[in-house]
Amino acid sequence: MSGDLINNLFAERTAVMLAPMARTTDSAFRRLCRRHGCDLVFTEMATAEGILEDSSTMYRLVTFHPDERPVAIQLTGGSATATAHAVARLVRSHRPSVIDINAGCPVPNICSRGCGAALLSDPLKLSETIGAVVKAAGNTPVSIKIRATGQGAAVQPAQIGRIAEESGARFITVHARTRSDSYSTCANWDYIAAVKQAVAIPVVGNGDVFCVEDAVKMKQRTNVDGIMIARGALGRPWLFNQCRAVLQGDPLPPAPTQQEHLEMIDDYVREAFIWLGEVPAINYVRKHVSWFTHNLNGSERLRTAIFTARDPQQIRDILKSYASDLIDGKFADELPRKDIEDIFRTKISFWRELDRDLIRG
Ligand SMILES: Cc1cc2nc3c(=O)[nH]c(=O)nc-3n(C[C@H](O)[C@H](O)[C@H](O)COP(=O)(O)O)c2cc1C
Repeated sequence: MSGDLINNLFAERTAVMLAPMARTTDSAFRRLCRRHGCDLVFTEMATAEGILEDSSTMYRLVTFHPDERPVAIQLTGGSATATAHAVARLVRSHRPSVIDINAGCPVPNICSRGCGAALLSDPLKLSETIGAVVKAAGNTPVSIKIRATGQGAAVQPAQIGRIAEESGARFITVHARTRSDSYSTCANWDYIAAVKQAVAIPVVGNGDVFCVEDAVKMKQRTNVDGIMIARGALGRPWLFNQCRAVLQGDPLPPAPTQQEHLEMIDDYVREAFIWLGEVPAINYVRKHVSWFTHNLNGSERLRTAIFTARDPQQIRDILKSYASDLIDGKFADELPRKDIEDIFRTKISFWRELDRDLIRG
C-alpha cells in the first residue's frame, strides 16, 4: 500500500479488521486472515512495562511476519512515559504499520496497574498517553481501542473519542460493551454511533459481528468507517472477504468447499508450528482446530482426540486421519450444532470447558 496507510485504508470502502485476541490471534492465524481479505491485523496485547524489561514473552507477542503487513502492534501501559518509551523502541526495532493503544481491556490485573480500560476513567492520563505515544511513534500512525464507558459514566464515549482525536490518534476502535459487560450482554452499537458523530477521524465498530448480515447492519446503524471482528472470525477467516465484498455492493463470495476448508486447517497448523515452535504452538493449534471444525461432522471426536494428544506429530496424524474420514463420508451427522455454536459465541474460553469435560470423563 503506497501513500498514507490510514487514508488508503478507509478511502474507498469500509475496512475490515481482525481484532486482537490474547492467546488466540497468533501470527499464523493473522496471516490466514490477511490472505482472506482482512485489511488490518493486530498483535495480541503486550504491556509497555514488559517491553521495557525485555520480557521475551512480550517480545514474542509483538513480533510479526512480513506477510502480515499492514499490521498494528497493540500495547497498553501504566504511564504515558513508559508507554512512549516502549513505543519508541518498537517503532525502531519492528517498524509496525500502526501502533494501537489498548484502552479497553477490563481484566482486573491490567486495570489495577492503570492500564487498559482504567485509562477511560482518567481522561487527562488518556490524553497524555496518546500525545506521548504519537510523538514517540514519529511517522507511524497511532490508533486507540476503547470500550464503551456506559450510561451515567463520568466520561462518555463521545468525549473519549474527541480526546483521542485531539491528542493525535488517527482512528479509534469502539468495542460496544462497557467494562463490566460480559459477552452474554449484547453489544450496544449506539455507543459506536455516538463516537462516529463526535469525531472526524475514522471510527471502527466492534462487537457481535458474526456474519455478513451483522456487518451490514452495523454499517447501516452507525455509519462506521471500518468493522473489526473478533470471535466471528475464529474458524472462519473467509468472513473478511465476504464482508468486504457485500459492504461494497458486490455479490457474496461462496464459503470454502470442504477440500479448501481442510487445506486451510493444514496451512494454519503448519505455519503455527513453524512460527511459534512445535510445543508452544500446541495450545493455539488445539483452539483453532476446534473453531475451524466446529461445524463439520465428526468434530466432537476430533476435539476429544486433539485435546488429549500430547505431542505435535500425534496432532498431525489425528488431523490427517480426520480429513480422510471426513472426505470418505465416515461420520454420521452427529453434531449438537446449536449447543456448540452457543458455547462458541458466549464462552470465550470454551476450549477450557471442553478440556474440563474431557478431564471429567
Ligand atoms: C479470547 C479473547 C482475547 C482478547 N484479547 C484482546 C486483546 O489482547 N486486546 C484487545 O484490545 N481486545 C481483546 N479482546 C477483545 C476483542 O478484541 C473484541 O473487542 C471483543 O471480543 C468484541 O468483539 P467480538 O464481539 O467480535 O468478539 C479479546 C477477546 C477475546 C474473545
